[in-house]
Amino acid sequence: MSEAERASGDVTSSKSKPVTAAEENFGVRARNISIGYTIRGRSEPFVAVAEATFDVRPSEMVCIVGPSGCGKSTVLSAVAGLMPVRSGSLAVNGRPVTGPAADRAVVFQKASLLPWMTVEDNAAYGLRSYGTAKSVARERAHELLAIVGLSNFAKSYPYQLSGGMQQRTNLARALAADPKLLLFDEPFASLDAQQREMLQAELMRIWADTDKAGLFITHQIDEAVLLGNRVLVSTKGPASHITNAIEIDLPWPRTRNTRLHPDFNGYVEHIWSLLAAEQV
Ligand SMILES: Nc1ncnc2c1ncn2[C@@H]1O[C@H](COP(=O)(O)OP(=O)(O)OP(=O)(O)O)[C@@H](O)[C@H]1O
Ligand SMILES: [Mg+2]
Repeated sequence: MSEAERASGDVTSSKSKPVTAAEENFGVRARNISIGYTIRGRSEPFVAVAEATFDVRPSEMVCIVGPSGCGKSTVLSAVAGLMPVRSGSLAVNGRPVTGPAADRAVVFQKASLLPWMTVEDNAAYGLRSYGTAKSVARERAHELLAIVGLSNFAKSYPYQLSGGMQQRTNLARALAADPKLLLFDEPFASLDAQQREMLQAELMRIWADTDKAGLFITHQIDEAVLLGNRVLVSTKGPASHITNAIEIDLPWPRTRNTRLHPDFNGYVEHIWSLLAAEQV
């Protein structure tokens, strides 16, 4: 089996809705992508990611783990359309990536809410920027705030919220425009353990009801196993690439109790050993 086949995987997703290779469009289809940064005063770019190949299928949540600095955020930026790939091919929802688009939304580690806007206006902001009428955007924002448990805080301002509530607002904003693909860059990393578990549970609940695809970057192996249909393991940088795509065959819907599943720790240990081998 080639590296490309191994990373893309050929196993049917274990999410409730079966995903087959026959579905013509992938959420993300990356083939041998290289991504670099131009460094001032140097003629050669710094190659952060080289020849990386992976897929995210429709309705699948794929997590990426890898050593710090290996290029996870760089990959996510490229998929978001914020950075070009220097070689290889990258398509989202069946179309080559040429820039940001409404079919995908990003949730970053920092909630990056607009401090002068209320929670409801922050949640509606993405929709408004795509030209949706204010009343429609607000109604949609209220639906999403209910889903993330913030109905009572619609009129609050970000400074009045805890870090976890800010990140819930951020999630509502990302979901409001109904993107087919959600991109998460360590969205719960700055939260304390309890808030992180609550947000994970929230995301799993939302994910069970959606057919969206997700690409989720995390440093926490247990979080990757808990949330992912598959976990991609990256080599260390520079010029990193994906070496393994581990199918997480744990039942859906996932909940906090999924951590108690007899296979859970086996997955964590396996991925841990792959990463430990990468650090030497
Ligand atoms: N704007 C930039 N200019 C130059 N090099 C950069 C830039 N941003 C990132 N890099 C480099 O690219 C590499 C990959 O960075 P990236 O932020 O994607 O890593 P990461 O895997 O997300 O790390 P972490 O786990 O710490 O968030 C690193 O070596 C980093 O120094
Ligand atoms: Mg990063």
